[in-house]
Amino acid sequence: MRSVGLFGALFFALLAPDAFSVKTNDFKTCSQSGFCRRGRALSARAKDAASSWKSPYSVDASSVSISPSEAVVTAAVKSSLYPEIKFELEVRVHEDGVVRVRMDEKDGLRKRYDEAASWALVAEPVISKDVQWTAGKKDVRAVYGDLSIVVAYDPLRVTLLRKGREQVVLNGQGLLHMEHFRAKESLPEVQADGAGEEAQVPIKAEKLRAWFEGEEEDAFWDEKFNSWTDSKPKGPESLSLDITFPNHGTVYGIPQHATRLALPSTTGDDATFSDPYRLYNADVFEYLASSTMSLYGSIPVMHAHSADSTVAIFNAVASETWIDVHHPTSKSSHSHWISESGIMDVFILPGPTPEDVFAQYARLTGSTPLPAHWSLGYHQCRWNYVSTDDVRTVQKRFDEEDMPVDVFWLDIEYAEEHKYFIWEEKTFPDPVEMTNDVAAVGRKMVVIIDPHLKRTSNYPVYQEASDLEILVKPKSGEGEYEGWCWSGSSSWIDMFNPGSWEWWKSVFKFQRENGWSWTNSTDAVHIWNDMNEPSVFNGPEITMPKDNIHFGGWEHRDVHNINGMLFHNLTSQGVAERTTPHKRPFVLTRSFYAGSQRFGAMWTGDNLGTWDHMTVGVQMVLANGIAGMTFAGSDVGGFFGNPDTDMLVRWYQVGIFSPFFRAHAHIDTKRREPFLLDEPYKGMIKDILRIRYSMLPVWYTAFWESSRTGIPVLRPHYVMFPKDTAGFEIDDQFFIASSGLLVKPVTEKDITETTVYLAEDQVYYNYFTEAPSYGSSKGKRITVPLELSTIPLYIRGGSVVPTRERPRRSSPLMAHDPFTLRVALDKTGFSAKGDLYLDDGEGLTYQTGDYVWRKFVAEKNGKKGVRLASRNLSPAGGEYEKSIKDVRVEKVTILGLANQPKEVKVVGRDEPLAWTYKTVAAGDKGKAVGVLVIKDPAVLITQDWEIVIDV
Ligand SMILES: *[C@@H]1O[C@H](CO)[C@@H](O)[C@H](O)[C@H]1NC(C)=O
Ligand SMILES: *[C@@H]1O[C@H](CO)[C@@H](O)[C@H](O)[C@H]1NC(C)=O
Repeated sequence: MRSVGLFGALFFALLAPDAFSVKTNDFKTCSQSGFCRRGRALSARAKDAASSWKSPYSVDASSVSISPSEAVVTAAVKSSLYPEIKFELEVRVHEDGVVRVRMDEKDGLRKRYDEAASWALVAEPVISKDVQWTAGKKDVRAVYGDLSIVVAYDPLRVTLLRKGREQVVLNGQGLLHMEHFRAKESLPEVQADGAGEEAQVPIKAEKLRAWFEGEEEDAFWDEKFNSWTDSKPKGPESLSLDITFPNHGTVYGIPQHATRLALPSTTGDDATFSDPYRLYNADVFEYLASSTMSLYGSIPVMHAHSADSTVAIFNAVASETWIDVHHPTSKSSHSHWISESGIMDVFILPGPTPEDVFAQYARLTGSTPLPAHWSLGYHQCRWNYVSTDDVRTVQKRFDEEDMPVDVFWLDIEYAEEHKYFIWEEKTFPDPVEMTNDVAAVGRKMVVIIDPHLKRTSNYPVYQEASDLEILVKPKSGEGEYEGWCWSGSSSWIDMFNPGSWEWWKSVFKFQRENGWSWTNSTDAVHIWNDMNEPSVFNGPEITMPKDNIHFGGWEHRDVHNINGMLFHNLTSQGVAERTTPHKRPFVLTRSFYAGSQRFGAMWTGDNLGTWDHMTVGVQMVLANGIAGMTFAGSDVGGFFGNPDTDMLVRWYQVGIFSPFFRAHAHIDTKRREPFLLDEPYKGMIKDILRIRYSMLPVWYTAFWESSRTGIPVLRPHYVMFPKDTAGFEIDDQFFIASSGLLVKPVTEKDITETTVYLAEDQVYYNYFTEAPSYGSSKGKRITVPLELSTIPLYIRGGSVVPTRERPRRSSPLMAHDPFTLRVALDKTGFSAKGDLYLDDGEGLTYQTGDYVWRKFVAEKNGKKGVRLASRNLSPAGGEYEKSIKDVRVEKVTILGLANQPKEVKVVGRDEPLAWTYKTVAAGDKGKAVGVLVIKDPAVLITQDWEIVIDV
């Protein structure tokens, strides 16, 4: 390692000297955060006051205005605490039934930040033309379909109902409080002796305040944390809001936290955690495996679920936010959101199914676009591959062991003095040749580009940004904010400044007209955006001071959680647009917000090589997925520590069932590339890698599906079986999109058996042994004996799973390989269906129809036979389709065929096909099944055909 790198590592070590434990003192608890304290104190007072608690906020009935042409209602709101302060409420209903509720202070002393949603949304939502509002004496309401939205006046309360049943309620607990802007000296002194006439009103207000707001001005004007002081020039401006989900007992979402998928309570008798869930993007060193602490990304989206319906809210706030969760009964959920700044801007997603909620959210913030096919292969990373020769050697070792891999990654040490883009000449003297060597079999490289720019005049990227005056400013609003990160003294690009956008995109070009060019890169190099929370080693909570200034004069506190997304967005555009025609970019981000799914993949950051972290990694990937961030994974092996071989094997088994599959390791860990292991572990991992590669058609089709529907690639149980209450808390097994594949990764040491939950009366086939297991409509757990090499993987009866089974060194080498189809007949023994999506893997012509999309359908044929058909769902005749016209199906396995066939034929052909038939005993209890293998049916993947099995 080089000296600057060493300095960085040393610096990091100084910040976190305790090996293997988070430095909790670096991060605030709620009680160390003024506005969180105030918010929690408010809910405590409400609890004490019980039924006498009443929200002081009310709608002025005379002000209610319904826009004549659109379903928008506006109304004046006031708080009896501060009658002189005006608020404005706006409620609109979108075409798809989503309700948006906004409230802001009107004519306030200052302006609250109101742009969070504009960064998150893909487009301005279309307002419904059909919704009719009716204003009455007590409320204004709209009824549409079986939904209604009711805005009650006094106290202000917004309720969404379906068929008369309450689904979502804002301010139902009376915890709404928008701290208005005030001048520092505005509070009148209450005279101890003899209040004069003029003092009457303030005293009255003061009493009210004492009851609702508490008696103290707790951390209104500045706040200390460790050695830092946050100057808070705008004073208090927090927003407290309770959102209740009556009739919904389980809540999910608000990633990212290292917790169970079904969110445990943080208050009340059932509390698992004592602090609220925190959303404040932070670089948390060696984070805990079970905690409500903030992590690197924040998506303020919460789903609430019951056997009757799923609903969700997206609370578009960009500032630090704390969320208390409580389940007063098993049938309802409360949440209390406390944000430091910003307007109220809440989207209520009415569902009623999980799929509907995903679609509604995707219409707001977009879905994950189809990734480059190669990016679903295996990614090999380490801090650091130290030289171009190191990279070549690692690649050679993978090839010698016949282990597939698609991408080699370079962490920060490739860059001279951590000046990203600039290769360290001593160790990376021939970066283009190295990249070409890697790209020879279609592989790619990913290099890290962090947002901190080394402040030195010999770094052209910094120098250009400085000249353009697009760097984040310190609290004075003048000059450049300076902080410490890997590159030493650094500054940060202000991506909120539109002046930075075209410039940052242009930096990825190989040849620019003006300024420095990244000539020694190629289009096989993709990007990793790390540290974009942003991480600042010498900043409060390892990030930027909240009083730093961004474009438009906004403080960092107002925009913090969005910061990382903008960097990811512009990097992703830069990578896409550096070539003509544009190609699909791959950009991995650590920090994210609502909408980040449009720009690339994320990973769960610097996890530990422990079984706990392996377990919670699965839960975190599921949670990120339901909040849109479905292209997700955790570092295989754990970033910190030296995992035992058995842990490593299990971790690869987890990894191949993650949408994003990357192994990574800290600089202080021993090398652990899979080719370094002894047998039998080396062979096990080779087999595991090959399973991932054989299933790339499943993964690619899953991403295609997710890109169109917003439904996550990994589907938790409740998404598949929304009425099965027994499955609501299950987060250790999941389905891959609608492929029918059910996985239960094993994340415990030395266990010899596990159970898999089957929610329905259906047959599930073990993917490897083909043995059937039978579920029950009441839900049933089957027992699975385990060896280290066992992966509990099942095909749900009724599915067709396409794979490619020829081992190759990289995924691009599989482009013309034949397919295998596993047809898993359902419990009737006759039907199954499944999809296969293919395209050129990295271009954008699929967007205009140049792709292959097949549907495979098995149905009953005559009394006892089965016919399997391949049907086309794509526009025929595209260039891509032509390029694979000779690719065939080389094997079809029919699972669950009750009787031995008489004859198997392709319709239209005389000669029958060759086949074998056997019986496979049940894995647990129940009847054996027949398995038919059709060898080389000689049908083409791009053609329509039918195979008839006569029994
Ligand atoms: C990379 O390109 C820059 C010019 O853009 C050049 O100064 C530098 O020497 C090159 N580095 C290597 C390692 O080729
Ligand atoms: C981010 O990405 C979207 C595309 O999803 C684009 O429309 C938008 O302008 C981008 N830029 C910023 C700064 O958010």
